[in-house]
Amino acid sequence: MTSVALGADHAGWELKEALKAWLFDQGHQVLDFGTHSPDPVDYPDYAAQVAEAVAVAKVERGILVCGTGIGMAITANKVPGVRAAACSDLYTARMSREHNDANVLALGGRLMGREMALEIVKAWIETGFAGGRHSGRVDKISAVERRHTDRAASDP
Ligand code: RB5
Repeated sequence: MTSVALGADHAGWELKEALKAWLFDQGHQVLDFGTHSPDPVDYPDYAAQVAEAVAVAKVERGILVCGTGIGMAITANKVPGVRAAACSDLYTARMSREHNDANVLALGGRLMGREMALEIVKAWIETGFAGGRHSGRVDKISAVERRHTDRAASDP
């Protein structure tokens, strides 16, 4: 069982609802930050909430859906501690876990159908981080993040 925060804009809302139902069925714990209708909204508002929930360990993982997954991933990656990957196939979804220890998955609701998205989410949830040589590389990602957060904190 994995705890997962979900977020979507109007372009990802329908797919997010399908993912939510599937995750519940599989016994995962789901925290849905919306949106809850097809009315136009701004994707950064939802990406930030999901990314922050992951960053403070309120949930283990986050899944975001917009039109392409790109805006969601760009926004989520601004939150320290988040490694968001925009994936549109099984290989990148698996690699984002095995090599990058991605803790947020961003999907494009305008890029794929429900079945493909469910396969990607299943693979992404079930794949573990490989560790080993990849741990040092992920540590280097965190070091880059720290350099910039420290610099921002010390700026007058
Ligand atoms: C909304 O039209 C669209 O820009 C958004 O869903 C997303 O694709 C942004 O990256």
